[in-house]
Amino acid sequence: MVSQGKLLEVQDLQKNYGKKNNITKALNGVSFDILPGEFLGIMGPSGSGKTTLLNCIATIIKPTSGRVLLNGNNISAFDSKNLAEYRGSRIGYLFQDFELLDNLTGQENILLPLSIHGVNFAKARAKLDELAGLLEITNILHKFPSQMSGGQKQRVAAARSLISDPDIVLADEPTGALDTRSARTLMNKLEAINRSSGRTILMVSHDPNAASFCSRILFIQDGVIFHELRRTHDESQEKFYERILQVLAQLGGGSANVL
Ligand SMILES: Nc1ncnc2c1ncn2[C@@H]1O[C@H](COP(=O)(O)OP(=O)(O)OP(=O)(O)O)[C@@H](O)[C@H]1O
Ligand SMILES: [Mg+2]
Repeated sequence: MVSQGKLLEVQDLQKNYGKKNNITKALNGVSFDILPGEFLGIMGPSGSGKTTLLNCIATIIKPTSGRVLLNGNNISAFDSKNLAEYRGSRIGYLFQDFELLDNLTGQENILLPLSIHGVNFAKARAKLDELAGLLEITNILHKFPSQMSGGQKQRVAAARSLISDPDIVLADEPTGALDTRSARTLMNKLEAINRSSGRTILMVSHDPNAASFCSRILFIQDGVIFHELRRTHDESQEKFYERILQVLAQLGGGSANVL
């Protein structure tokens, strides 16, 4: 299999839920590649298969058929050791509802993935300081989630998804629970992290504002990818946002009706 230059390859992914008479085809033959350093968005209506797709890539669920390759390696063929390494340090996951542990401070939440994988403390500390600076959460690291705003919680969760230096961050509606201003702050940070460190991000979102930070967007409906938009090199975020709205409008009378 030739995979040169590709970080992630999704090949003809299918996922059926349910049994014989009551099957939902959540993914119906999804294929795409992600190059290192891309900030790829996936947009689609509720129920179109976005979370199913991310969860297949994260090995949270098993696809019915098809393959996912990371750096040319088929992840479904991983043995338990490779799989633990993949889940623990090759991918980072950012959830819509943060999924922070209530009884741990921000700092403890962020370092949790590393403590599980036994990483050197000084190295972890340096990484924590770097990410906290980038995400502007240095002064809330000692707080518990109940003492943080939604935007702060999500930036702590973003730091946790990045602490193990993953090859790719998988983000499922990361702005879904945030107000407009906090959403914009988070997206600015994710874009800066993508640009400055070349961190690859795959983000699912309903929100054209959030998606306009991406470098490329795939549109999915009924488990099938039906359109792609690429942000050109010199295209402003505002221009890209307009083009996203055009695609959504063509889909059926504006984004409010579709997504
Ligand atoms: N565990 C499950 N069992 C049965 N059907 C499921 C299950 N999970 C998802 N589905 C169905 O699969 C389809 C895709 O669901 P999925 O959660 O991937 O959609 P989504 O695009 O993430 O939607 P949303 O934007 O609302 O989060 C839907 O029709 C959903 O009802
Ligand atoms: Mg979803």
